[in-house]
Amino acid sequence: MSLPPSNTSLTYSSPSATPHLTYTPLKPLTPNQLIIKVFAAAVNPCDIQLWHSPLVGLGRFGREGTMGWDYSGTIAAVGDKLKGEWEVGDEVFGMCEGPAAQGTFTKYLIVSDKAPIARKPKGWTFEEAASVPLVTLTAFACLDRLPPLKPTVAHRRVVVAGASGGTGMWCVQLAKKVYNCHVLAICSGRNAEFVRGLGADDIIDYTTSNVPQALLNHRPKGLKFDLYIDCVGGTEMFGNWKEIIHKEGAYITIVGDKTSRTVPGPPLTYFTYPSQIFRHMWSWISGPRYAAVILYNESKYLEQVADLAEKGEVGAVVQEVIEGILDEGKEKQAWERANALLEEGRIRGKVVLKIQD
Ligand SMILES: NC(=O)c1ccc[n+]([C@@H]2O[C@H](COP(=O)([O-])OP(=O)(O)OC[C@H]3O[C@@H](n4cnc5c(N)ncnc54)[C@H](OP(=O)(O)O)[C@@H]3O)[C@@H](O)[C@H]2O)c1
Repeated sequence: MSLPPSNTSLTYSSPSATPHLTYTPLKPLTPNQLIIKVFAAAVNPCDIQLWHSPLVGLGRFGREGTMGWDYSGTIAAVGDKLKGEWEVGDEVFGMCEGPAAQGTFTKYLIVSDKAPIARKPKGWTFEEAASVPLVTLTAFACLDRLPPLKPTVAHRRVVVAGASGGTGMWCVQLAKKVYNCHVLAICSGRNAEFVRGLGADDIIDYTTSNVPQALLNHRPKGLKFDLYIDCVGGTEMFGNWKEIIHKEGAYITIVGDKTSRTVPGPPLTYFTYPSQIFRHMWSWISGPRYAAVILYNESKYLEQVADLAEKGEVGAVVQEVIEGILDEGKEKQAWERANALLEEGRIRGKVVLKIQD
């Protein structure tokens, strides 16, 4: 596969500045790197959170900020050490290495062997595959906090708040298919059928119910929950959480006490909301455990999801594909659409940017 002399990316020059196209020479490949020709890239709330963050801006020392975490595409070049493991033309999906790495809103992405990557399931389109990495790596980080199954019960009981969103929909699917849990999902009535279709056993409609009270009512014979996964944020639950989750269980949040969609989440919220530190430390002593977590950064979880997808056990859900993000003259409108959807917070599943054919 021949590589172009110049690469096109979406970047921004200072926090919250309108993103624009930049054209830069492709860097030479090192032995432990791959070049991916990117076809699709999902958008995530962290794209706008990092874009707005002055703190992240400081760390760039005047360099352009890059954007995007998730991608799918084909391998366009393989570093010497990775030959045999990967070949030019392999169809893959994965995530960039972190906020300091090259972002995935780019035509050619360089990733090292440390970045999570897996072969794309045959049944998934590139758009579907791009929608998966960040949110499934986050879902696994949450579900990993499940306490061991007690011999006296058939299933562990999990609550997923925000079950119709990007991470929540994977928490529901993986809790059912990998961990064989009973899943109580919190979502709006308009998304109830969608979330049931993912496998949820019960639903609480947060738009018509008092959620803490509804959870208290969902304890057959007083049986408490093993794990509460919070994909929404806020502190609404903490008045009752010890009545809802048992002592060896856990309340895991991927958002923290904040409710704003445009400021960064964990681990930063431990500094911006010191009550989280106190809750975290006290939970070691008294239980249930509390933690604000970030995603796992390992390929093995993407391989597991790809395997489940090949067997037809889990599915990707793309609400919308936005075109034009790297097309001169169309990039502003495409970004405005993505930004509006991320700020609004009503996405069912994921929204994906088409990068190139
Ligand atoms: N810590 C990490 O590593 C990590 C990783 C990924 C995401 N996150 C954070 O997690 C949050 C969620 O992100 P996401 O991409 O998974 O989801 P998302 O796409 O932002 O979630 C949108 C969904 O949430 C639902 N929703 C909104 N308010 C709700 C409420 N009060 N109760 C229940 N559902 C509600 C919406 O449904 P309706 O329209 O029906 O209300 C919509 O379907 C963001 O703050 C993101 O920054 C953190």
